[in-house]
Amino acid sequence: MDYRIRPVRWDDRFVIWMWRNDPQTRRMERSADYVGWDGFKSWLKGSLSDPNRCLLLADTLHDSLAIAQFTLQADGSATIGINMNPRFRGRRLAVQLLENFITDARRTLPFTRLLANIRAENEASRRAFAKAGFVEVNDHDGICAYQRDLC
Ligand SMILES: CC(C)(COP(=O)(O)OP(=O)(O)OC[C@H]1O[C@@H](n2cnc3c(N)ncnc32)[C@H](O)[C@@H]1OP(=O)(O)O)[C@@H](O)C(=O)NCCC(=O)NCCS
Repeated sequence: MDYRIRPVRWDDRFVIWMWRNDPQTRRMERSADYVGWDGFKSWLKGSLSDPNRCLLLADTLHDSLAIAQFTLQADGSATIGINMNPRFRGRRLAVQLLENFITDARRTLPFTRLLANIRAENEASRRAFAKAGFVEVNDHDGICAYQRDLC
């Protein structure tokens, strides 16, 4: 599938909010709570102006495909999260998307290690991150920590 990756814009807020409240996404987040519109807008506004955060969106010609979020930590690592448009899940797009998001994010943030916290039951995410070169380094309280070192 053809898509291009670009920085998230304020105009994207509605679609990203919809995906964030998708039932499967909520089950896989640390908190399954519904995210209200005003709270989400505050979070997005803060994120877009945070120099340590990089939000990227993959767009097809007609649709938005996925968002990835990178947050730089004080030790030079960055956390990564991905959320795919529910309509496009299960098409084996996640591994390549992760690779492309990582390549793009490195142009903005100078991280040398990536960290992902994934719920143990999130089989699709765990498989995708493992195939994208992440190694499971910890498993605590139902959350698996994955890490990938970059040179
Ligand atoms: C995590 C996510 C990006 C993965 O994308 P996806 O389109 O569902 O996954 P893919 O189709 O690319 O498949 C990736 C792997 O998971 C497997 N898989 C896909 N759906 C699965 C499911 N429901 N149960 C078990 N395995 C599944 C695929 O077979 C593939 O593994 P394989 O190549 O070894 O066969 C997507 O499911 C998503 O956005 N989920 C909600 C948000 C989330 O959980 N984010 C991760 C937190 S960092």
